[in-house]
Amino acid sequence: MIRGLPEAFLRGLEDFPEDALFEGNADEVAALGRDASGRRGEAFVGPVVAPRDAEGVAALLSLATRTGTRIVPVGGRTGLSGGAAAEPGEVVLSLHRMNRILSFDEVGRLLTVQPAVTTQAIQEAAKEHGYFYPVDFASRGSSQIGGNIATNAGGIKVLRYGLTRNWVAGLKVVTATGQLLDLNRGLVKNATGYDLRHLFIGSEGTLGVIVEATLQLTDPPRQQQVMVLGLESLDAIVEVFSSLRRGLMLSAFEFFSSIALRHVLAAGARKPFDSDPPYYVLAEFDEDEAKAESLFEACVSQGLVCDGVLSQSGGQAAALWRLREGITESLAQYRPYKNDIAVRVGDVPAFLERINILFEREYPRFEVVWFGHIGDGNLHVSVLPPPGWSREAFEEECERVTHKLGELLAEFGGSISAEHGIGLLKRPYLHYTRSSAEVELMRQMKRVFDPAGILNPGKLFAS
Ligand code: LAC
Ligand code: ZN
Repeated sequence: MIRGLPEAFLRGLEDFPEDALFEGNADEVAALGRDASGRRGEAFVGPVVAPRDAEGVAALLSLATRTGTRIVPVGGRTGLSGGAAAEPGEVVLSLHRMNRILSFDEVGRLLTVQPAVTTQAIQEAAKEHGYFYPVDFASRGSSQIGGNIATNAGGIKVLRYGLTRNWVAGLKVVTATGQLLDLNRGLVKNATGYDLRHLFIGSEGTLGVIVEATLQLTDPPRQQQVMVLGLESLDAIVEVFSSLRRGLMLSAFEFFSSIALRHVLAAGARKPFDSDPPYYVLAEFDEDEAKAESLFEACVSQGLVCDGVLSQSGGQAAALWRLREGITESLAQYRPYKNDIAVRVGDVPAFLERINILFEREYPRFEVVWFGHIGDGNLHVSVLPPPGWSREAFEEECERVTHKLGELLAEFGGSISAEHGIGLLKRPYLHYTRSSAEVELMRQMKRVFDPAGILNPGKLFAS
C-alpha cells in the first residue's frame, strides 16, 4: 500500500478506469512530484493520477474531498517556487493527457485549449491562424498553459502585452469538491458580478484545477529588432529605458549584469561586443533602425551607454536574446537561491540603490547574479552557494537576508514574488507584500472552494 494515503481513497480509486493511474517507473513518478525550484524534499513515490477529461478530474477531486486526501495538480513543472512539488502522502494530479487544442473562433480570435498544451504550441497555433499569443518566456517549450494561468505567468513581453491574466477570455475549472465551473465563456463584456475567472488566475492550484482555457489572440507585431547596450552604472538603466521608450515601440526591456553574462557565455553564448561593461540591457522593438541608431547615439553622448549592438537578422536577434534568456539555465547547475521581486518601475533606481547596499552588506561572500525585466519593475536576483558551504547553512543564510529584503520591499510597497508565485519557498515572506487582512480573506476564499483543504495544501499559506 502507498504510504500515508487514506484507505477510503485507495478503495475509491479502484472504481476509476484502469488507465487512470500513471504507470511510470520510479524516476518518472518522482519527477512528476518535482518542479524546477530545485527544492529537494523526501522523494515523492506516487500515486500519479492522469485523467483524460474534466469528468476524470472532477471524480478524483470529489473522492479526495470525501476522503481527506491531499492532491497536488501538476503541469509542465517549470515553476521556481515549489508550487508543484509533492511529498510522500500526497497524490499528484498530472494533466499531461489533456493536451489538445480544441477549437479556434476566427471572428473573436479565440483559441480554446486543454491545460497541458505548451506555451509554445499555443504561440505556434496562433501563428498558423495569422495571429499572435504574446505571453512568452524561456521555458515556453515545456511550460503548460494550465500552469501559466494558475501562476498568472509573466515573462519577457509584459511591458507591452501584460501578464497571462490579460489573455484569458474563458476558463473551465473543477473546484476541490468536484464542481465544474464554466467561467466567462469567451465573452468580452460580462458585467454580472464577481469575475471568478480572475480568482483562479494566479491561485497556484489552491482553489481549483484548470481543465480548459479560452485564450484571446491578437495581431502579430511588426518585424522586431533587438539591441543590446552596455552600461557603466546601475543608475543609467532606467534613464536608458525612459529614453528608448519615448522613441521606440518597445516589447521588451531586459537587464543583466556582467556576472550573469559570464555564466551564459560559459554555457556557449557569444559575447555581444568586445568591451566589458558591468551592466547590459536588451531592448526589443518594432523595427525602426534609424530611430534606434539615433537614440543609441544620444545615450552614448549623454554618457549613459558605452557600447551596443543592433540585430541585423532574425538569427542575430535570437543570439542576442540568448544572452538574457539563457541565464536561468546557465545557473541551474549551482542550484542558486532565487529572488523574484518587483517595485513600481519609477521606484527602480531608488530601490536598486538600497538593495545594492543591503546585498553588499549581507552577502559579502556570495556571488550575486542580477538580471530581470526592469521595464515592468521585475528583478531577478540569484545568489550562488560558495564552495565549502553546506546546502542547509547556505539556505539558512539566504532566508535570513530575504527577511531583510522583505522589509525593504514593504517600505517600497513592492512584491516578494513578481511572477514566480509563492508556492512553498516564498511562503514565509508573503506578509511583507500582503496585509494580514488580505491573507485572512484569501484563507476564507480557500475554505469556500476547498472546504476539506485537499488542494495543493501548504502552497501559498500553511494548511
Ligand atoms: C527569467 C525567469 C527566471 O526571467 O523568470 O529568466
Ligand atoms: Zn523572469
